[in-house]
Amino acid sequence: MERKWWQEEIVYQIYPKSFYDSNHDGIGDLNGIRKKLKYLKDLNVTMLWICPIFKSPMDDNGYDISDYFALAPEFGTMEDLKCLIDEAKEMGIKIILDLVINHTSDEHAWFQQAIANKDSKYRNYYIFKEGKEVPNNWRSIFGGSVWEKVEGEDTYYFHTFGKKQPDLNWENKEVREALYAMVNQWLEFGIAGFRVDAITFIKKDQSYASIEADGVDGLAKCTKTCRNQEGIKDFLLELKERCFDKYDCMSVAEAPGIAYDDLDDFISKDGFFSMIFDFKAADLDVASGSEWFKRLPWKISDLRTKLMEYQMAVQKIGWAANFIENHDQPRSTTKYLLAHERNKEAVKTLASMYLCLRGTPYIYQGQELGMVNFQRSRIEEFNDISSIDQYYRAMQEGCSKEEALHYINLRSRDNSRTPFPWNATRYGGFSEHTPWLSMSEEYPTINVEEQMQDEDSVLSFYKKILHFRQNSKYRECLIYGDIAFLESDEEIIAYERKTKKDCLQCFFNFSDQGKEETLLHASCKVVFQTQDKVEIKDKVLKLKPFQTVILKVEEQ
Ligand code: NOJ
Repeated sequence: MERKWWQEEIVYQIYPKSFYDSNHDGIGDLNGIRKKLKYLKDLNVTMLWICPIFKSPMDDNGYDISDYFALAPEFGTMEDLKCLIDEAKEMGIKIILDLVINHTSDEHAWFQQAIANKDSKYRNYYIFKEGKEVPNNWRSIFGGSVWEKVEGEDTYYFHTFGKKQPDLNWENKEVREALYAMVNQWLEFGIAGFRVDAITFIKKDQSYASIEADGVDGLAKCTKTCRNQEGIKDFLLELKERCFDKYDCMSVAEAPGIAYDDLDDFISKDGFFSMIFDFKAADLDVASGSEWFKRLPWKISDLRTKLMEYQMAVQKIGWAANFIENHDQPRSTTKYLLAHERNKEAVKTLASMYLCLRGTPYIYQGQELGMVNFQRSRIEEFNDISSIDQYYRAMQEGCSKEEALHYINLRSRDNSRTPFPWNATRYGGFSEHTPWLSMSEEYPTINVEEQMQDEDSVLSFYKKILHFRQNSKYRECLIYGDIAFLESDEEIIAYERKTKKDCLQCFFNFSDQGKEETLLHASCKVVFQTQDKVEIKDKVLKLKPFQTVILKVEEQ
């Protein structure tokens, strides 16, 4: 593919509420990010994706925007944002913002006017249906019907997510025009691009007909009728042509459920986005159907297959966005390493395995410390609207209180949203004020200060592997090289990265046992490894438990 600047980025995702609180009100802020730019630079990241910072009642922590042109005062001012962008730029760090255009907050002026006056043009900015009965049986993502009754009227409005997040009516050209103008205004402001939220939901099945129920509540998951619907591509093409194409920007879309056969439209040279997040590997343990709250058992070979299918499909067409964590996912340590979540060597191998894949890597705050999931003992301790809904739904489906709590502890989005642990002092050095969400229990031992001093820490390792990817003589191969997966033991993920000049073979042992792999080439040189010297004898590579080894094939 033709080279693009964004292929060389290493993106770090910031959940601003929880990163660093500079004014000690218990909530992280933009000046907090400014204060920590040096930390991010030392980590070797080149781009920040900052989750929504716009004015919002924060029902879904900023994914419910009430003003696209104003910032949430708790995060800071436009001036603070400008300074952050400028200072980051001086350090070689670009910034992308979160673009939430499937819905707004119900406190957005458009929605307020739509509710206040039935005849206002803003009624058609959202999706309203008249009638005494709920229009259909679609279930919203955060629980309950997608329809909410308008007080004092026989009318309902539509929301894919929470009831304070009414969906915009993309069928209305005026809405689209208003959104494009807003997107362009932000691109003019000096940001490098956008992470585009929930974009595959903007088109709904226009019949709005009920479908077969899939739960005891008599409702059916709205992903079936509101995600990747026929006709969505016209909207996506228009968004790209009217906005992204006009700037040399990067766009990464949250696009679950896109079939690999469809990738061409999304990420080819003329695709709608620079890249998209694919969730098949992230969701490998997510159950559906009546036992949706459970975690499915899986093996390393399943993870390998999912990654391979994704990487090979993308390679034919465009560029990948690789991640193992984000603000909606549990911690990757707990999810992928299970009982070994605190084993530093296992955490390092998980990191290297995905950081050397073909594509732009995304690191979520705290992942570079090997943070783990928390255990909360009461529902009142949760902030995530989705966890609270799932707790009650799990009980409705027959779980006991304890079981329901166990399941939401495993998958809650709060797991990754706890305040960032900078040191071992009270509130982890995140703030001097009680944080908006309680810390994870581990902060006295898992924190930046502690890991900075330890050459063998997960943090030191992230710096090392990112430096290897970005600055070593294998940079070209690790960024632009083709990928092919290698036959390997069931508990090993192995792949090859290759350019005309170099061939690197990468082995990641996910077993707590030593493993042997027979090499195809006699002449190989170790160019990167975790743990002590790896042994290669008579073409046999002897990997220690949880070891990573990258070999350069000398003769091909
Ligand atoms: C996806 C975001 O990542 C998530 O945090 C949010 O709740 C929904 N979209 C709704 O905007």
